[in-house]
Amino acid sequence: MNYTANSSRYKHNHFRRCGESGLDLPLITLGLWKHFGGKNLNIESKKIIFRAFDRGVTHFDLANNYGIPFGTAEINFGKLISTQLKKYRNELIISTKAGYDMWPGPYGNWSSKKYLVSSLDQSLKKLKLDYVDIFYSHRFDPNTPLAETADALSQVIRQGKALYVGISSYSPKKTIEMDKLLLERGVKCLIHQPSYSMINRWIEKDLLKTISKLGIGCIAFSPLAQGMLSNKYINKIPANSRANENKSLKKQMLTDSYKDKVTNLDLIAKKRNQSLTQMALSWVLRKKEITSALIGVRTVNQLNECLDSLNNLNFSTKELKLIDKFAKEENINLWSASSKH
Ligand SMILES: NC(=O)c1ccc[n+]([C@@H]2O[C@H](COP(=O)([O-])OP(=O)(O)OC[C@H]3O[C@@H](n4cnc5c(N)ncnc54)[C@H](OP(=O)(O)O)[C@@H]3O)[C@@H](O)[C@H]2O)c1
Repeated sequence: MNYTANSSRYKHNHFRRCGESGLDLPLITLGLWKHFGGKNLNIESKKIIFRAFDRGVTHFDLANNYGIPFGTAEINFGKLISTQLKKYRNELIISTKAGYDMWPGPYGNWSSKKYLVSSLDQSLKKLKLDYVDIFYSHRFDPNTPLAETADALSQVIRQGKALYVGISSYSPKKTIEMDKLLLERGVKCLIHQPSYSMINRWIEKDLLKTISKLGIGCIAFSPLAQGMLSNKYINKIPANSRANENKSLKKQMLTDSYKDKVTNLDLIAKKRNQSLTQMALSWVLRKKEITSALIGVRTVNQLNECLDSLNNLNFSTKELKLIDKFAKEENINLWSASSKH
């Protein structure tokens, strides 16, 4: 199949400026954590990538270890970016990260300079790229001096291997420290990538204020709480669903208190003529500090439904108050350890 992008892909201009940088990001970014690994991209996953770009999604989020086995999402995406998407490289923002388990031994995990720099070299080979647009420290490493991680991030910028750098799941305190360390090295931290959704609201306490003050953008990952913010789990666990896989979304996370919240939120969404999934995305984007909502999808239909959330981004004060009654913590933040420091 020879792919040509839809000529009206920028018609809606759904972009937002990333912090105080010069970079615009699409309001919705596609993440390749699940469904894009394996020996080859399956046909649906390939269609998802093309459809996303056809609808103005210019930003694709990866990490060194995405896909099973680890790294196969980058390899598969690399096959597309070096062929059918090659002519669109200048229209694309491609992000990758290092910080979690990737290869055996002491240099294949956490945030030493040795790990981060060699991981990015490996990612560039897999992606068949000369540079990535954004390179992240995937999590805070309590056993590595932050200055060493900052050294690694500033080095890859100087070497032209990344255009911008970011951090993921860092606490407000460590974000301030990292921003300062990077500035001392002549580099600005572009973006923070925390988890955030209607049932995981930790960033509202301090992090949003902190990044706003520092002029750092914010891309919120798992805005659908891995699919929990849809109505599909109210009565059953569908066969083709993340909860049924019982890995990162464990069946026991679907508690009665969760189902009660989601049932009520679903009713509010219906009154807005949105699905709960759509309302969950519009809700994350209601905050001006949020540059982009970083979603995952397993089908083109899911992608289309998510992108249609952008048709209704406004909330009345009354709606927001009502949503607040049910949009409460469910203790589902699997990434919280990183932001405890
Ligand atoms: N920085 C980090 O540490 C970190 C951690 C996690 C993720 N991320 C990034 O964030 C991205 C998104 O994470 P995520 O996949 O957890 O995000 P998410 O958008 O909260 O959840 C995605 C899941 O929601 C379900 N879904 C999506 N659209 C739907 C629809 N229209 N109707 C019903 N269900 C729908 C699908 O579940 P089913 O599979 O059940 O169909 C999909 O797999 C990742 O790909 C990755 O790039 C970063």
